[in-house]
Amino acid sequence: MTATETAGPRYAPYANGKFALTMGLVALDPKDWIDVDGNRTLELQEKERLLAADRKAVFDDLHGSEEAQREVLVLLLEHLEEHHPDLIGFEDGIITVYETGKSYRMADFADHALDLAGRLVQEDFCLMRPGEEGYVLIAASLCFPARWVLAEKLGQPMMRIHERVSGYAEKLGRPVDRFFEHLRSDKPVQRLNWSIMDDPALFQTGGKFRTEAEDAITPENAGGKLWLRIERQTLRRLETSGDILFTIRTFVDPMSSLEGRPDLAAALRSSLGEMPEGMQRYKSLPPFRDALLCYLERVAAKAA
Ligand code: HEM
Repeated sequence: MTATETAGPRYAPYANGKFALTMGLVALDPKDWIDVDGNRTLELQEKERLLAADRKAVFDDLHGSEEAQREVLVLLLEHLEEHHPDLIGFEDGIITVYETGKSYRMADFADHALDLAGRLVQEDFCLMRPGEEGYVLIAASLCFPARWVLAEKLGQPMMRIHERVSGYAEKLGRPVDRFFEHLRSDKPVQRLNWSIMDDPALFQTGGKFRTEAEDAITPENAGGKLWLRIERQTLRRLETSGDILFTIRTFVDPMSSLEGRPDLAAALRSSLGEMPEGMQRYKSLPPFRDALLCYLERVAAKAA
C-alpha cells in the first residue's frame, strides 16, 4: 500500500490482475472457519426477516439429512464456544444470540438443525452427500444466494448445480468431483469468488445473464451504483456422517471502496479485461462493462 492508498475491501481475489477459472482452494486454519464482522447484527436480523417471510426459499432439506444437520450444529457450537465465546449463550437447551437478543430452543430445531446453525452466524450453509453422479446438495440454510434459486439446486449433483456456469463443465467439473472424494475432515479448505453487481441486496435469486442494467451506469456514477460481491467459501468433511459442509460468507462493498486503492482498481480492470465473454455474460457484466472499465482506469490513475 502507498501513501495515497486506504485499506479498501477486506478480500480482493482479483488482486493479481488475472482471470483464471480454477478451484483456487487454499488450506483453512480451523480457528478461522467462522468470519465475524461489524455487520453481524444487521445480517442476522436480515436472515430472520427472510426466514419469516418465506422459509422454504432460504432453508430447505431432504429427508435423511437430519442427523448430518445435527452434526453441523454441534460442530458450530463447539467452534463458537472455543473461538467466539462472546457471541452466543447456551443453557438448558436454549441458545441466545447476545447481539440480537433472540433465543432458540434447540428441541424446536431437532430435525432442521442447519436452520438453527444459519441463524447463529453470518455464514450460509450447504450440506453435500455423495451420490451416483457426484456430491448432491441435501440441505441448505441459504439466506444470501448470489442470483440462484435453492429449489432449483436441492437434490442436484455438483455438475448439474453448476450447469449454467460458463466453463465449469470443461475446466472444473472433474477436478472438483475428484477433490470432493479425497477431502479429509482434518484438512478444511477455503476459496474466494467475486462478482460485480448493480444491486447490493444480500438475497438475490435472479439476475444472471442480464443484458440490461436497472439504471444507466456511467463512468461518473459507477462508484456508487455498482457493488463488489465477494464470497468466502469453506469446505470440510464431517467426521461422523462423511458428508461435506460448504459454507458461504458474503461481503458486499460499494465499487467506490476501491477509490483509496488504485492498485486494486488496476487489478480489477485487468481481470475484467482477461475474462472470457461467456463468463462476462454469465455474470451480467455487459450492461455496464465499458462504463466500469473507464471508471476503474480513472481510479487506477490516481496512483501517480
Ligand atoms: C471446489 C468447489 C467449488 C468450485 C470450484 C465452485 C466454482 C463455482 C464457480 C466458478 C461459480 C461461478 C460463480 C461466479 O463467478 O459468479 C460457481 C457458482 C455456483 N456454485 Fe460453486 N463451486 C464449488 C462448490 C460449490 C458447492 C459445494 C455448491 C453447493 C451448493 C456450489 C453451488 C454453486 C451455485 C448454486 C452457483 C451458482 C450457479 C448458477 O448460477 O446457476 N458450489 N461455483
